[in-house]
Amino acid sequence: MITILGATGATGGALLRRLVDIDVPCRAISRHPDTLRATLGAGTPVEVVGADAVDPRALRTAFAGSTQLFLAMANSPRQVELEINAVDAAAACGVRHVVKLSAPAAEPNSPVAVSRGHWRVESHLRRTGVVGTVLRPYAFMQKLLLNAPAIAEGVLIGALRDVPCNYIDVRDIADVALETLLRPDLAGSTYALTGPQAFRQPELAHRFTQLTGRPVRYIDLSPEEFHAHLVRTAHMPDWLASHVVEIQQLAIARPEAPNGTVEAVLGRPARTLDAFLREHLDVFATAP
Ligand SMILES: NC(=O)c1ccc[n+]([C@@H]2O[C@H](COP(=O)([O-])OP(=O)(O)OC[C@H]3O[C@@H](n4cnc5c(N)ncnc54)[C@H](OP(=O)(O)O)[C@@H]3O)[C@@H](O)[C@H]2O)c1
Repeated sequence: MITILGATGATGGALLRRLVDIDVPCRAISRHPDTLRATLGAGTPVEVVGADAVDPRALRTAFAGSTQLFLAMANSPRQVELEINAVDAAAACGVRHVVKLSAPAAEPNSPVAVSRGHWRVESHLRRTGVVGTVLRPYAFMQKLLLNAPAIAEGVLIGALRDVPCNYIDVRDIADVALETLLRPDLAGSTYALTGPQAFRQPELAHRFTQLTGRPVRYIDLSPEEFHAHLVRTAHMPDWLASHVVEIQQLAIARPEAPNGTVEAVLGRPARTLDAFLREHLDVFATAP
């Protein structure tokens, strides 16, 4: 039994859809199981279980009988605590393989606080003796959809200067996760996952211009100005705005070159940003 913690999320949801498509028995965990059941519809083969990762006992009940766990937890100030709860519950339940969604620069002295947290969870997972596979993807293409209202106003705002930035489609992350769950030879390794190309923000703005037929320009702010913009205009909590700024500072410090890992694992090229943008043209072209 493959269990997904984070089954309603971007990556966990993509993996859940793949498992259903290929008829692999799976269990999906959510704090809102009724909503998830309603989304999946009557007759779904997915076993839906309610659990909150703040509750270790609920996690042990939810993981009982599972052989593998995909762990994809949302960013939050309590993320490390919640993920360590999940890893411990998995180990206690005899789960033999955990695939953990992590992030770039997961290192003990990472300049990105969230990545330092991922490092702590990865290290904890290694100490349990459970086989641990770690996926460290770059920025999710799907998060670009959050920019749709600004794109509609003709702007793309950031603090990335003119550096190349890599985007990966979460469906490719899910496909790699699936391979590591189904192929024992791939389990137990760490995979840095990129999309096939990196883009500078002015290039990205140009692509939005071509896509929507309306002029879109990139506005580059200082890290402090960008942080204030995210809090004031995007209404992000302070910790999340700091995370976004840190990630962009990391992209400036460390060039984000494509690495070909997705293609090496899947035997087909990674999905392109152009294809993603075309697929979501309605969102970018019609946002209010
Ligand atoms: N965004 C990026 O560009 C990017 C890039 C690299 C790495 N990452 C990493 O990817 C991860 C996020 O992945 P994602 O975007 O696929 O996830 P997501 O869409 O944010 O969803 C995460 C899941 O976390 C679950 N969750 C949150 N709190 C929970 C709790 N207390 N108990 C149980 N479940 C809980 C939610 O389930 P319910 O609400 O249904 O309970 C939801 O399904 C982060 O760790 C981030 O560092 C992100």
